Amino acid sequence: MPKVSHRGSTMPDSPIRKLDKYASEAKERGIKVIHLNIGQPDIASHPAALKAIAEYTSEILAYTPSPGIMDLRIQMAKYYNRMDIRVAPENILVMAGGSEALCFTMMSIFDEGDELIAPEPLYANFLAFAHMAGATLVPVSSDIHSGFELPHVSRFEEKIGPRTKAILLCNPSNPTGYVYSQAELHDIAQLVLKHDLFLIVDEVYREFFYGEVNIMSALNLESLEQHVIVCDSASKRFSLCGVRLGNVVCRNKAVLDTINKYSQARLSAPLMAQVAGIAAYKAEGSYFEEIRKTYRKRRDYLHSRLCGIPGVVAPLPEGAFYIMARLPVADTEAFCKWLLTDFSLNGYTLMMAPASGFYITPGQGREEVRLAYVLDESAIDIAMNCLEKALETYRLLEPVTDTVYLI
Ligand SMILES: Cc1ncc(COP(=O)(O)O)c(C=O)c1O
Repeated sequence: MPKVSHRGSTMPDSPIRKLDKYASEAKERGIKVIHLNIGQPDIASHPAALKAIAEYTSEILAYTPSPGIMDLRIQMAKYYNRMDIRVAPENILVMAGGSEALCFTMMSIFDEGDELIAPEPLYANFLAFAHMAGATLVPVSSDIHSGFELPHVSRFEEKIGPRTKAILLCNPSNPTGYVYSQAELHDIAQLVLKHDLFLIVDEVYREFFYGEVNIMSALNLESLEQHVIVCDSASKRFSLCGVRLGNVVCRNKAVLDTINKYSQARLSAPLMAQVAGIAAYKAEGSYFEEIRKTYRKRRDYLHSRLCGIPGVVAPLPEGAFYIMARLPVADTEAFCKWLLTDFSLNGYTLMMAPASGFYITPGQGREEVRLAYVLDESAIDIAMNCLEKALETYRLLEPVTDTVYLI
C-alpha cells in the first residue's frame, strides 16, 4: 500500500480537538456540553461584513490578486495607522486566515533544521506550522505562578544556537492571556538585534486587552524594521472565524517577496472574505468598545468562579479570551476526558482544553487546562457548577498525589 509522507505522519495532532469524539458521544447520550475548550466567540460577526456579503452581486466569483485586493490592503493599512502603527498597503499581504499567514511566514524564513524560540505554553498550531516548514520549536517555559510573564531574556539567549533564525511571540498570548509589556518587548528586541534574528509576532488578539495600557505592536519596536513579521487575523477581531481572512505585515521586502511566491502558488485569498474584510475594516468604529466590556465581564466572572474552587490556581489574564488554570488533579487530559465520558450535572458537562498540548517540554502543563470565555455568564455559571462538583467527585476516584495546591 502506498504510504503517507514522514512529514505528514509526524505532523502533531491538534490538542484542542483531541477530545472531540468524546464530546460528540456525550451529546448523543443527550448531555449538553458547554464548550470552553475552543476560541469560537459567540459574538455576532461585524454587521458591516455581513451586509457586504449579503449585498454582493457579481456574475462571476473570480480569483483576486495574490497579494490581496488593493482596496482591502488600503483599508488594513488605515486600520494600523489609526492604531499608530505606520505601515503602507505595500507592507501588507492578505491571507486565508492568520493560519496561512503563520504558515507562509515560516515557510519563507526557515530551512530544514532551522530553529525558532518561543515561550511555552504556546498556541499549539505554532508547532504544526514550524513542522510544515521543517523548523524546530525550542521552548522557554513560563510559569503559572508569575502569571506567565515573559521569562528573562537570558533564558532565551541560552537557547540561541547556530541554527536559530527567529523568536516567536503571541501578544496577547493564546493560551495564557498574558500581555507583554513594552519593557519585555524591548528586551526581546535587543536580543533579536544582537543575534540578527527575525521576530515573528502573532497579534491576532490585539483588540482584546482589559488593562489600561494599549497592546504595543512589535511593528512599533525601533530599529527592527527588517526583523519584525506580524501575523494578523480578522477571525477574532470582527468575529469572522469562518470567512478565513488574515494578513502578514512586514517592512522587509525580501520577506514580503518570498511570502508572495507562496501566495501566488495558492492563487488568491478567498474573495468573499476580502469583501467582508473591506467593509469591516472600513466601518470598524466603536465596535470593540462593547465587545471589550463583554469579555472583561466574562473574564472577571470566570476568574472569580475558578478562584472560589478549592485547589484551583488561576492568574488573572490581561488579554485575549483565555484563562489557564491549574486544577487539583494529576492529569488534566484524563480529567477532561472523564468529564465527557462519565460526568454530568443536571444534564450538563463542560469541555476544556488540557494544557499539556500547549507545552513542548514533556510533562509540563499536565495539571493545567485552558478555558476560553467565549460564552455568556449563564453558560460559564453552569460550566463552573459542573467543574466544582466534578472536582469533588474526581478527587475521590483519583489516586492521591503529593502535590501541594495551596498557592
Ligand atoms: C494565536 C492564534 N493565532 C492564529 C490563529 C488562527 O487564526 P485564523 O482563524 O485567522 O486562521 C488563532 C486561532 O485561534 C490563534 O489563537
